[in-house]
Amino acid sequence: MTHESTVHELKPIKLSLLETFRLIRKSYVNPLEHAQELQQRFGNAVMQKFFRLTFVNLYGADAHRLALINSDQVFSNKEAWNQIIGRIFPNGLMLRDGDDHRYHRRLMQAGFKNKALHRYLSEMGPQVHEAVAHWPAHADQPLFAFPTFKQMTLNLAATIFLGMDLGDEAARLNKAFEATVAASMPRIPLAIPGTILWNGIRARKYMCEYFQRLLPAKRTGNSADMFSLLCQATDEEGNQYTDEEVIDHMNFLMMAAHDTTTSTLTSMTYALAKHPEWQQRLLEEVHSLGVEQLEYADLEKMELTDWVMKEALRMYPPLSTLPKYSLKSFQFEGLTIPAGAMVATYPIHTHYMEEYWSEPQKFDPLRFSGGRAEHKNHPYCWVPFSGGAHMCIGLHFAVMQIKVVMFEMLRQYHWSIPENYTMAVQQSPISKPRDGLPVYLAPREQ
Ligand code: HEM
Repeated sequence: MTHESTVHELKPIKLSLLETFRLIRKSYVNPLEHAQELQQRFGNAVMQKFFRLTFVNLYGADAHRLALINSDQVFSNKEAWNQIIGRIFPNGLMLRDGDDHRYHRRLMQAGFKNKALHRYLSEMGPQVHEAVAHWPAHADQPLFAFPTFKQMTLNLAATIFLGMDLGDEAARLNKAFEATVAASMPRIPLAIPGTILWNGIRARKYMCEYFQRLLPAKRTGNSADMFSLLCQATDEEGNQYTDEEVIDHMNFLMMAAHDTTTSTLTSMTYALAKHPEWQQRLLEEVHSLGVEQLEYADLEKMELTDWVMKEALRMYPPLSTLPKYSLKSFQFEGLTIPAGAMVATYPIHTHYMEEYWSEPQKFDPLRFSGGRAEHKNHPYCWVPFSGGAHMCIGLHFAVMQIKVVMFEMLRQYHWSIPENYTMAVQQSPISKPRDGLPVYLAPREQ
C-alpha cells in the first residue's frame, strides 16, 4: 500500500534534441534495446512530452498487471488503438472499452467455441498439407519463409473465415488486404493520394463492399465459417451484430489473425533452423503421434512444439508493445501518472528480464517445461497474447494453426540456414525478418 506522503508526481525526462532523435530512431530499429536503455537510465516509469502529447512507458511484469487487469477502468484500449489503427480498422473488438467491449466480445465467442475450432481444424489440415507439399525445395535456392507463411495464412483465412475459395477475386482481395494491413500503422499518417494511408483507406472501402455483398447469404445460410457464425451469433436477449458491425469485425479479425501468426511461424522456423537438434526433437514428437492428419486431441500432445512456440513468442513477441490511454490519473510504484497519456507496456522488455528468465538471450524452450516453468515466475511476465479483458480471443485458433503448419513442415522437410546467418528483425508494427528469412528446404523421405 502506498502512503500519500511517499507518492511523487512523475515528471517528464529532459533530453537534448539530438538524443530525442537518437532514441526515437532506436525505438524503431531495436525496441528491446531502446526499452532496456530507458528503463536502466530512468526507472520503471518514463514520461516524455512532445508538444501537447504525453507518452508514458511502464516497464516490468507489474506494469502489465496494472494495465491489463485495469481494475479501476483507468486505461482505454479504444482511445489508444484509435489513434494508431482507427482510420483503417475502426470499431474492431480491440478498439472498444467497458460494457460495449464485453457485449461485442461475448457475441464474438460464437466464432471461437470448441465446436467451431474442431471444424476449422478439419478444414485447415488438408489445405496446409497441400500448400506445404507445393513449396519449391531447391538445394541452391532459398524459400522466403515470411512471405510464404503470409500467403498461406491469407488463403486459410479465406477458407476458414469466409468459407470460400476466393477464385477470381483472390488477387484483388489479397492486394486490398495487404494495403489495409500496411496502412494500419503508417510511418507517414497522411491520407493524400499516393500515400500508404490513402491506399489503405481505398482498400478498406473495397473490403467493406466485398463483405457487404456476401452478407445476405451468410445471414441466412447454414455454413459454419467464421463470417457466418458472426452473422448468426445471438446473445441471451436476442441481440445480433448489425451488418456494419459484422463487417468491422471481419476486417479487424482478418488483420489480427494474419500477421501475428505469420510472425510466430517465421520466428519458430528461424529458431528451428538455428537449433537443428530441436527440429529433430519436434520431428520425433510429430512421428510419435502416429497420425497422417492432426485431430483436435493431438494438439495437446505436441508439448515440445508448444514450448518452442512459447519460446519464439517470448523472444520475438509479434506485438512488442501494448498501448493504452489513461482516462484518469493513476499510481504506479509510488508515482502519480496523469490522465490523458498514451501509456505503453513492453512485452519485449519483460520477456528479457533476468528477474524472471534464466539467460534470457538464450533460445531455451525447456524453460517452459513443468519442472522449470519460468513463465509462472510472475503471472504477467509472459504476455505475447496480452491479458485481462482484451486478451487475444484468437489464442487457441493461433496455437492450432501454428501446430498444423509445424506438423506438415516437419514431416515434409528438413530446413536450414547458413551457419553464420542471424535473422535481422524489424519489430514494428509487427515483428518480422527484414529479409523475409531465406531457408533451404530438403524434402524428407516420406
Ligand atoms: C500468435 C498469434 C497471435 C498473437 C501473438 C496475438 C496477440 C494479440 C494481442 C497482444 C492482443 C491484445 C492487444 C491489447 O491488449 O490491446 C490481441 C487481441 C486480439 N486478437 Fe490476437 N494474436 C494472435 C492471433 C490472433 C488470431 C489468430 C485471431 C483471430 C482468429 C486474433 C484475434 C484477436 C482479437 C479479435 C483481439 C481483440 C481482443 C479484445 O480486444 O477483446 N488474434 N491479440
